[in-house]
Amino acid sequence: MARHLLTGTELDRDALLALLDRADALKAAPLSSRALEGRSIALIFERHSTRTRLSFEAGVFELGGRPIVLRRDELQLARGESVADTARVLSRHVAAVGLRTGPHELLEELAQASRVPVFNMLTAVHHPCQALADLMTLRERFGRLEGLKLAYVGDGNNVARSLALVGAIAGVQVAVASPDGYALAGDTAGARLTADPVEAVADADAVYADVWVSMGDEDSADARRAALAPYRLDDALLDRAAPGAIALHCLPAHPGEEISADVLYGPRQCIWDQAENRRHAQKALLELLVR
Ligand code: CP
Ligand code: NVA
Repeated sequence: MARHLLTGTELDRDALLALLDRADALKAAPLSSRALEGRSIALIFERHSTRTRLSFEAGVFELGGRPIVLRRDELQLARGESVADTARVLSRHVAAVGLRTGPHELLEELAQASRVPVFNMLTAVHHPCQALADLMTLRERFGRLEGLKLAYVGDGNNVARSLALVGAIAGVQVAVASPDGYALAGDTAGARLTADPVEAVADADAVYADVWVSMGDEDSADARRAALAPYRLDDALLDRAAPGAIALHCLPAHPGEEISADVLYGPRQCIWDQAENRRHAQKALLELLVR
């Protein structure tokens, strides 16, 4: 059985902390591992990406491997070849497969038929690689994860879910503030759900924002912007968090919408470190998956 990373909950606490330790080591010495020497990694994108593509492509290269980036429209998948057959062929050529797509079931179907590890580069339901980089960033800043409080304000989406699920494994207490109709649904791993952003950020060590209109949600963009307007991450909201609290955002950002430009480019953010840490955390993940 190939091991996969579809939600992040495949990792137990020890494995997660070991991965983060390894990510720190790889950040300190980016060219110190040849774990993917002579191996190829397929990276399939059915949705747009800047950070995920850059960080995986550069990260695979730094590990001595070859990234093969495939867009849906280039694959026979787009002309009707099944996901399972695509997985069977991928398994004959590459050491692991990353997929970014909308339906989480499609990722599961790929993993089911794959003999090599499959990892989630974002679905509409989960974004575990983002959460790994976010935990790395939190630990870098605070020196620990256990007992930290993270408040996510905005749409109860893929990023919020992965923070709740993966954060819980590391002992981070997550609160999610969303308006009616946009609350985090399903298994939230004990995350505190509220409609009140000020209540969510009380005592928080980090306040996290994501876009109000995720990929695939464009049809409801106007309604989302109206409902989510009171959930903007600005200095006034950050002032209600714990002293020394940091601002996080997975990016891409829309300054003036879900986050103010003052916070996005200001002294209290660790957002650009998060973007960098994608590469280090994912290299540690690839080392773990490809053995
Ligand atoms: N945060 C993130 O996944 O960014 P991209 O959509 O640019 O990959
Ligand atoms: N929630 C966003 C995250 C982008 C990285 C989306 O799914 O579009």
